[in-house]
Amino acid sequence: MSDNQLLTVKNLHVNVEDKEILHGVDLSIGTGETHVLMGPNGTGKSTLGYALMGNPRYTVTEGEIWFKGQNITEEAVDFRAKSGMFLSFQNPLEVPGVTLSSFIRSALEQKTGKRIRLWDFKKELEKTMELLQMDPSYAERDLNVGFSGGEKKKAEILQLLMLKPSLAILDETDSGLDVDAVRTVSAGIEAYQKTCDGSLLIITHSTKILESLSVDYTHVMVEGKMIKTGDASLVDEINREGFGRYENEKTE
Ligand SMILES: Nc1ncnc2c1ncn2[C@@H]1O[C@H](COP(=O)(O)OP(=O)(O)O)[C@@H](O)[C@H]1O
Ligand SMILES: [Mg+2]
Repeated sequence: MSDNQLLTVKNLHVNVEDKEILHGVDLSIGTGETHVLMGPNGTGKSTLGYALMGNPRYTVTEGEIWFKGQNITEEAVDFRAKSGMFLSFQNPLEVPGVTLSSFIRSALEQKTGKRIRLWDFKKELEKTMELLQMDPSYAERDLNVGFSGGEKKKAEILQLLMLKPSLAILDETDSGLDVDAVRTVSAGIEAYQKTCDGSLLIITHSTKILESLSVDYTHVMVEGKMIKTGDASLVDEINREGFGRYENEKTE
């Protein structure tokens, strides 16, 4: 294992409601690396994201997850978040009664274990919202309540930039966004790559979000298995040729 190894997944088998969805997934992500995960619908990409984050509905039946040199396979979501793992949801939750601003501030305080001065926090939040072209009034609105699809995704990227995790797993953060919103979200992710030396696992079907990002590795998952890993050019190959040929390779 190289020194810059951040995440190592070994032979991961994951069950959802007693059905095995992931059948032995291996994945290594180094510090500062950007990985793209592609694959047909229903193949287990989101399941991998949830299992990495420690969602209790996703049971690891075999294999291990190592993060920052620690075996975290049995650790709870909370522990993983504090260690610097972040998952942006495909469908972000609405939380009535908690404003976007207070949600991010308390997440930051939990992560660092320190109180954060309100003035400093507000300044940074304002600056980051500007980068994401978010109306400042959203900071005081209840988290995701009445947000459009695009606004929810921007709110996720805002959390990413404020929390500065070591590893961000973005699950179809670009789906359902118009071209301008994709560009803004992509600029936010680029800022995370550059300013936080952050590592990324980007689950996506589209190449738009990747245009301004440098991608180190692309993985293809089919039916709960990683069947191919390549460089950034694999994204284009898949978009040209689809997943069909990999599905055939799998049965050969
Ligand atoms: N919470 C869940 N309850 C029941 N089935 C689930 C749940 N999450 C995932 N699955 C099933 O696991 C399989 C993989 O789903 P998912 O990981 O969402 O695929 P992908 O993200 O690649 O589209 C699907 O058959 C899906 O129905
Ligand atoms: Mg999914």
